[in-house]
Amino acid sequence: MRTAPPAPPPDAYPPPAETGGAAARRYHARHGSVLPAIDPAAGSTAPKHHPGVPVLPLPFPPVFPSPPADRGPAAFLESLGALLALLNGVTRVDWTDAGVGAGRPVPSGGGTYPGEVYAATASGLCHYLPSAHALELLSHADLRAGLTRSLDRPPLEQPETVLLITSRLDANLARYGPFGHRLQALDTGVLTGQALTLLESAGAAPMAHARFADDEPGRLLGLDPGAERVHAVVTARTPGMIAPDAPLLRRRSARSGFEPVAVPSAALLPVLEEAARPIPLDHPAPADCDLYVVAHRVTGLEAGCHRYDPRTGRLVPVAGDVTPRSLFPPGGPGELAGFEAACAVLVTGDYESGYPEHGDRWYRMLNLRAGVVGQRIGLAAARAGLGAGLRCDVDTAAADAVLRAHPDRTTLLAALLGQERGSGAPACHLFRPKGPS
Ligand SMILES: Cc1cc2nc3c(=O)[nH]c(=O)nc-3n(C[C@H](O)[C@H](O)[C@H](O)COP(=O)(O)O)c2cc1C
Repeated sequence: MRTAPPAPPPDAYPPPAETGGAAARRYHARHGSVLPAIDPAAGSTAPKHHPGVPVLPLPFPPVFPSPPADRGPAAFLESLGALLALLNGVTRVDWTDAGVGAGRPVPSGGGTYPGEVYAATASGLCHYLPSAHALELLSHADLRAGLTRSLDRPPLEQPETVLLITSRLDANLARYGPFGHRLQALDTGVLTGQALTLLESAGAAPMAHARFADDEPGRLLGLDPGAERVHAVVTARTPGMIAPDAPLLRRRSARSGFEPVAVPSAALLPVLEEAARPIPLDHPAPADCDLYVVAHRVTGLEAGCHRYDPRTGRLVPVAGDVTPRSLFPPGGPGELAGFEAACAVLVTGDYESGYPEHGDRWYRMLNLRAGVVGQRIGLAAARAGLGAGLRCDVDTAAADAVLRAHPDRTTLLAALLGQERGSGAPACHLFRPKGPS
């Protein structure tokens, strides 16, 4: 007699079938909105690789500025190598409490890096190996038309470059438990944000897609849907020159903490302006990811919570009796970091606004958006000479209590900003930027 497979738990994530938001609500209530129990000793699963496929080394160190990709096969590889290195490669060596580590241009919750990057081009399908700075050639077939067809809103012109950002579903679960799934969505957003920034600056008019036939891109990539899924697709034209400036290479988390000193509001405002810029995404947001600033030591800005108005560029006071420290659970590392930081930027969103149109997938789409904004904050802070650190260990209820003007909003991600302590944690940068650093 055949026995039925066991029913998935009611808060399973990703939900096995679309429920119009009910499954995402259950997951969020049980795992996504509560502080994760973090096991710092647990590692992440090994990065993906495909044994037995041809491996194509990319020029190292990448050449900056890279030649435009359309100048022949050598230029194409140099350009793709430069793009992938700055998207998800090893760009520096970090000295940390745990020893020597490989530093990347993008942050990742707990440094677990669940994301993988695949590139579909006219020459075939490749998977990027960050630590080797090499490509695994998975197929010679040009999959771009098939991938584009799987998108809900394909670009008007057939894209020349298609980047696929996946998540290994178990990559961070040992450390974070089921909360890891939400972190994966935020991490996907961080990678998507970096891809958009790089491709925009290379004149490739990128668009990020979060809406597509769920398993179709993964099927074209040959992924096991129980292990790894495509979470975002970035389509673009052929990139022109890729040339990182020094701040892009300098982005990192303020690991050694912040000096408890004031920063000028003139340094903060460009960070907010950059973070609030419209995101080239394949769907309009039913409600924006509004930004709130909880200021403690910002010259020219009253202490307390302010809402950033992107139309006027002004900070509108919301509540006076709150500090960055009070956003974190007492006694944890976030409380100390919050005490030292000059301010916290809260990236907020409205889950309920998107379930009617997008169903359960909206949960991932909204967190993806927050990740894009988080990455923009990190890059813009580096540009403004500020130390920054993204945090998912905020006490969501405490943070949401200060968003009084908008009770429908919830905190998706926080970024602490300030002056990084001393000269920061030691790091050796592997690449040279264009122009003076
Ligand atoms: C979505 C997200 C959430 C994060 N949450 C925290 C956090 O709660 N506490 C913390 O110390 N760092 C947090 N980080 C920062 C990571 O630990 C850091 O990015 C990672 O260790 C890599 O270091 P780097 O940013 O210096 O390259 C977070 C990063 C991301 C992308």
